[in-house]
Amino acid sequence: MNTDTMPRIDVVLDHATLLTMDDGRPGPLAGPMQGRVDRIDDGAIAVAGGRIAAVGPRDGVWRHVDAARAGRAELGGGAMDVVDAAGRVVLPGLVDAHTHLVWAGTRADEFEARLTGTSYLDLLANGGGINATVRATRAASFDDLVARMTARLDVLVDHGVTTVEVKTGYGLTVDEEMRHLDVIAAAASAHPARVVPTFLGAHALPSAYAGAHAPDRGAFVREVIGMLPRVAAHPLGRRGPLFCDVFCDAGAFDVAETRAVLTAAKAAGLGLKVHSDEFENLGATALAAELGATSADHLVATTPAEMAALARSGTVAVLLPVTTIGLGSTHFADGAAFVRHGAPVALASDWNPGTAPCPNLWLALAIGTRYGRLSVAEALVAVTRNAACAVGRDAVAGRLAVGRPADAVLTDSDDPRELAYGFGTNRAVRVMLGGRWVR
Ligand code: NIG
Ligand code: FE
Repeated sequence: MNTDTMPRIDVVLDHATLLTMDDGRPGPLAGPMQGRVDRIDDGAIAVAGGRIAAVGPRDGVWRHVDAARAGRAELGGGAMDVVDAAGRVVLPGLVDAHTHLVWAGTRADEFEARLTGTSYLDLLANGGGINATVRATRAASFDDLVARMTARLDVLVDHGVTTVEVKTGYGLTVDEEMRHLDVIAAAASAHPARVVPTFLGAHALPSAYAGAHAPDRGAFVREVIGMLPRVAAHPLGRRGPLFCDVFCDAGAFDVAETRAVLTAAKAAGLGLKVHSDEFENLGATALAAELGATSADHLVATTPAEMAALARSGTVAVLLPVTTIGLGSTHFADGAAFVRHGAPVALASDWNPGTAPCPNLWLALAIGTRYGRLSVAEALVAVTRNAACAVGRDAVAGRLAVGRPADAVLTDSDDPRELAYGFGTNRAVRVMLGGRWVR
C-alpha cells in the first residue's frame, strides 16, 4: 500500500486485479526482471486531482479514501465515482511507442500489388511506397491532417493507449516537415492523449532526388541536417521530449547517412531513435547503442552481439510484430533473444499506411508472445513500463504509482494471460486518462 496526502478523492477503481509495473526503481525492466510482474489481487486505485492518490490492496486504499473523506467532511464536495472492476485486470494506460499518424490517402492499391508478388522495397524504389503517401499528404490541408491524426488518436485511446509517440516523415521538405510538426502540436493540444513527437525527416529519399539528373542524395541528407535547428526550436520541444528518427535500411538511408543525421540531432539536443534492421542489417543497431539512442525499432535482422550492445547502452528494443504481419512476412523479431541478452524490450503498433495499417496494440501483444516468444508478463511490460522508457516518459507513464498521472486501462479479463491468449479484439473496457474516463 502506497498513499500520499492528497485533496478530495474523485474516483476509486475497486476490486481490480492490478499489474502496477512499479517496483519503485527507475528505468525499464530487462533480462529476467522483464518477466517478473507482481500482481495484486483485489486491489484498488484512488484518484485525486487527476493523479493516483493511493494504489494497492483495496483495504489499504479504502483506509486512505476514508481518511481523506473524513478530513474533508466539513468542506462537503461532489460525489465520488466508484467503479467496480469485478476482478478484471487493470494495467497502466498502454504506451504506443512507435506510430506514424500524420498521413492522407491510402495504399490499398500497393497492398493489392503486393498480394501478387511485388515487394514493398520494389514499390519504394519505383517512386511508390513512402513517396506515394508523401504525395497524398503534401496535397492535404492542415485541417484535414489534424482531423485525421485526431481520429487516429481517438482510436488508440479507445484501445487503451494513453501515451503515443507520433512521427513526421511524410513531408520530406523543410516546409512540409515543419507543417507536420505543427499538425502534431495542434492535434495533441486538443486531445487528452499524451503525445510524444518525433521528427523523421530522413524517412525516404524524396522522388525529386531519384533519377539520372537528380541532385546527389547527399544533398538531401544535408537538407535534413539543416532542418534540425528548426525542429529543436519547435514549441513541441517545450512540452516534453522531442526525438529524431532515421529509417536506416535497404532502399532508405545507409549507416553513414544515419550517423550524420543522428549525430547532428544529438548535438541539437534531440533524443534519438532509429528504424533499424527491418529488412536488412546495415549496422544501425550498433550505431544506436554507440550514440546512446533511447530506442532502436523493428530489429528483425539484429545480431546477438547487437542485442548485447543495446543491453549495455540501455537502449530500448522496440519490436513491431504487426508490421511483420502487414508485410506478409514470417520473419519476426526474436523477442526472447533480446530478453536473454538483457536488452529491455517494448512492443509498439507502428501504425502507418504502408506496412502496418493497424492500430491494435493488443494484437502486437498476441503476436509478440507467439512469434516473438515473449512471455505474457514480458509482453505486458513491453506495452507499458518499457514502452514509456522508449519514449522518454518513464517518470510519468507506464506504471501505476502514487503521484503519477492517473492513466489506466480496465480490461475485459480477470486473468492476465487471457490478454495475450485471445486476440483480434479490443481488450479495453474502460480507459482513464488523467483521472477522467475517456472510454
Ligand atoms: O515503420 N520503415 C519505415 N517506415 C514505416 C513504413 C512507412 C510506410 O511504408 O509508409 C515502418 O515500417
Ligand atoms: Fe515505423
